[in-house]
Amino acid sequence: MSGRTPLIAGNWKMYKTGPEAVDTAQRLVELLADTADVDIMIAPVFTALDPVSQVVADSRVGLGAQNLYWEKEGAYTGEISADMLVAAGCQYVIIGHSERRQYFGETDETVNKKIRTAIDAGLIPVFCVGETEAEREAGQTFSVLDKQVQIGLGGYFAKDLGTLVIAYEPVWAIGTGKTATREQAQEAHQYIRSLIEQNIDKTLAQSMRILYGGSVKPDNVADLMQMPDIDGALVGGASLDAESFSKIVKFKG
Ligand code: PGA
Repeated sequence: MSGRTPLIAGNWKMYKTGPEAVDTAQRLVELLADTADVDIMIAPVFTALDPVSQVVADSRVGLGAQNLYWEKEGAYTGEISADMLVAAGCQYVIIGHSERRQYFGETDETVNKKIRTAIDAGLIPVFCVGETEAEREAGQTFSVLDKQVQIGLGGYFAKDLGTLVIAYEPVWAIGTGKTATREQAQEAHQYIRSLIEQNIDKTLAQSMRILYGGSVKPDNVADLMQMPDIDGALVGGASLDAESFSKIVKFKG
């Protein structure tokens, strides 16, 4: 982690109605009241953002959305703008999650525009990258990461990206129970950090938080967090239950 404050983020995906999300958030606020030296974020569905923001206000728990659209407003049925997320109480937004790439036509180019929109609105982007199983087996992990980072962050300078968080999420580890080994994750994180250093800026590369995502659970988080380039976790399934997510947040014991 080398001096970077860890971030443990929960991606609630398309789970929980507004009232259900409020209940879980209330429990989390209680369970995590005494945590220190770790940033925490939960990302519920859009309809739950506003009520959950009231629950987590003045707590250790930050609020994020799972997506945004790059236009300010307009005739874009079904979409949501960065300003709308800010008004609903968000500080973070997940961008380019593999499920959005796989099912909803997200590309490296749309991800690039969305990151700009998030930064301009003062949101912290959590930019997701990662290879599929077929790509890993074909020895393409680094070239896939290279393309995702080069295009996703194309045209950006260090001054734009001070808050940006990257989440390395190998697609084959998401929701499958197959976690990357800590060595596999470390290798990918180190490579991503080197891409930032070579293409953007050395100081930025050193300060940027790179999270691991893909079947993170209370019993494997501490092991992953020992690696020098792993600065936190983006957690799906195990973030839906307040007790399990709070154990992950308290990975130091
Ligand atoms: P998982 O999901 O923890 O359920 O594997 C991670 C993610 O999709 O962010």
